[in-house]
Amino acid sequence: NWTMENFIDMEVQKVRDAVGDRQVLCALSGGVDSSVVAALIHKAIGEQLTCMFIDHGLLRKGEAESVMKTFSEGFDMKVVKIDAQDRFLGKLQGVSDPEEKRKVIGNEFIYVFEEEAGKLKDMDFLAQGTLYTDIIESGTDTAQTIKSHHNVGGLPEDMKFDLIEPLNTLFKDEVREVGSELGLPDEVVWRQPFPGPGLGIRVLGEITDEKLEIVRESDAILREEIKNAGLEREIWQYFTALPDMRSVGVMGDERTYDYTVGVRAVTSIDGMTSDWARIPYDVLERISTRIVNEVANVNRVVYDITSKPPSTIEWE
Ligand code: XMP
Repeated sequence: NWTMENFIDMEVQKVRDAVGDRQVLCALSGGVDSSVVAALIHKAIGEQLTCMFIDHGLLRKGEAESVMKTFSEGFDMKVVKIDAQDRFLGKLQGVSDPEEKRKVIGNEFIYVFEEEAGKLKDMDFLAQGTLYTDIIESGTDTAQTIKSHHNVGGLPEDMKFDLIEPLNTLFKDEVREVGSELGLPDEVVWRQPFPGPGLGIRVLGEITDEKLEIVRESDAILREEIKNAGLEREIWQYFTALPDMRSVGVMGDERTYDYTVGVRAVTSIDGMTSDWARIPYDVLERISTRIVNEVANVNRVVYDITSKPPSTIEWE
């Protein structure tokens, strides 16, 4: 007779028993899984939980503020925010290959996490949002299971933490239920997937502040219009990308030579395959008009109409 409240009560008790009076560290990304883990463990041990939120400068508009607001203010959790923007952007200078970018960002994430975790004294446990599906997908070695895809992708083996993975018997829809039950806001519980390397892979070619700004602003407009159109839940993922491409346009009497923004919106069941979302034309029109009008250095908007396969969901 499995209910959400039962599950939460049981896990809370298990965490208390395991942790005792010791300390737990949780890497909070703002994603559904790490958010639910943080809320659950906070319910169990309150002040003995410290969350670390690393801002790598590749987050969406308003994201860092919203994570801090939800957890630090809303839940009154201890959240250490690490402003590592310069560090990441510095390392990414001159890097344009997508796999290379992923490596640079992933490695830097581990360095920053290690360094900052080292400054926090006496952390005995590391809490992770590993789901049942992550374990199946990555083989049998449960204890070492850290999604290679994950934000905390591959922590160094010599980090001396005991892992706490309270969600590792759950599927995604159950995690959302637990999250709601724990009082997390809908925007967290129903957040669309967002890759660990963030906007770093949605800016194609070399990353600059100007390009990041374009993706961030155009993405915010897209999200707003999708929300206004009531399409949030039926579209699996929607975002903008910046292909490394400029072309000719016209503004008033002037010729322009500016960037093209790519809009990507897909439907999917599990992210393994996807189809492009049939967004109504009038919604697409508003998205396009607003992006060219409101985002500097953009004179063209295209809609990606490829499925996965042969494409991928991300546009990197
Ligand atoms: P692709 O682009 O491979 O993406 O079709 C499939 C799903 O995975 C997400 N994705 C990631 N998620 N870290 C993550 O946590 C990553 O590095 C990463 N890369 C891709 C992508 O957004 C889509 O939902």
